[in-house]
Amino acid sequence: MKKRFRAAALALSATLMLGALAGCGSSSAADQREIIRIGHNQSTNHPTHLALVAFEEFIESKLGDKYDVEVFPSELLGSQNEMVQLTQTGAINFCVASNSLLETFSDNYTLFNLPYLFASSEAYHASMDDESITGPIFESTKQAGFEAVTWLDAGTRNFYTVDKPIETPADLKGLKIRVQQSPTNVQMMSLLGGSATPMGFGDVYTALQSKIIDGAENNEMALTDNGHGDVCKYYSYDMHQMIPDILIGNIAFLDGLSEEERAVFDEGFELVNQVQREEWVTAVENAKDRAENEQGVHFLYPDTAPFQEACAPMHDAMLEQYPDLKPIYDAIQAYNKQYPSTES
Ligand code: GCU
Repeated sequence: MKKRFRAAALALSATLMLGALAGCGSSSAADQREIIRIGHNQSTNHPTHLALVAFEEFIESKLGDKYDVEVFPSELLGSQNEMVQLTQTGAINFCVASNSLLETFSDNYTLFNLPYLFASSEAYHASMDDESITGPIFESTKQAGFEAVTWLDAGTRNFYTVDKPIETPADLKGLKIRVQQSPTNVQMMSLLGGSATPMGFGDVYTALQSKIIDGAENNEMALTDNGHGDVCKYYSYDMHQMIPDILIGNIAFLDGLSEEERAVFDEGFELVNQVQREEWVTAVENAKDRAENEQGVHFLYPDTAPFQEACAPMHDAMLEQYPDLKPIYDAIQAYNKQYPSTES
């Protein structure tokens, strides 16, 4: 099924490229509206999709005579990596990418990928809502051809495995764990003692099923929405990362908007953030309930301290490598003090 998707994605990407090259930006000869294409890798039930549909409706209600917004879910336009490249070139206008992937386009994004960066969800949300924290990072991909226009909640990432409960980092030894394609994630896995297997999200289910990997790490939605809980029966709340998803837009498209249009789009980006966050809390609760009661997944609550200690050297190493990020890192620590962890 995934292979079929990938083939369709490649065909569609090629069509979009050709369309863009030929300058075919409108839906038909009669309909002169410009099509705005937005790609993401989640299902149509996912909060991200619901938020983008709200964006579509909002933009079309305000600027519908000029723009026709189309949202492509489920990796229909390619993997996240491929979609970022399509957004860079302008073959599509927007896509949702995990912050993890963006560190290969700008070093600044490395910061939000650090394990145990945020002490609590409250500290995470307050930091991501603070433009003095996100601004310098979001602007730093402009030279790469895209701009981050808002962030989306992707919860907390935890380990889950086919058949071995993870209670301590030692339990990860010898296990092949899928991570996102980013140097920070590979390093985190090696500090925790497991063997990092980077791959795109759409390939994880088959890799788990065919036992190419022993487990993966993600939020609870991956268990239900992506079926990983059909194969993996242990989900351990080690709470290693809160990595936001980022809505990115092609810079030439955004810069080409008039001031009035940009104001409408900015309101739309704000709406994406609000709707997605409102939907997120219930979506995660439902996913956990379904995973536990329908898929038979066991949820474990290990002591997170040993996991955190193993990853701690990454903080100083990052600050040494990117000293310019220190003031932003310190601002996040201030939120961590204000909203400390509630774990006992
Ligand atoms: C989450 C996240 C996605 C990401 C995925 C992954 O689902 O929201 O943006 O692609 O994790 O692990 O690749």
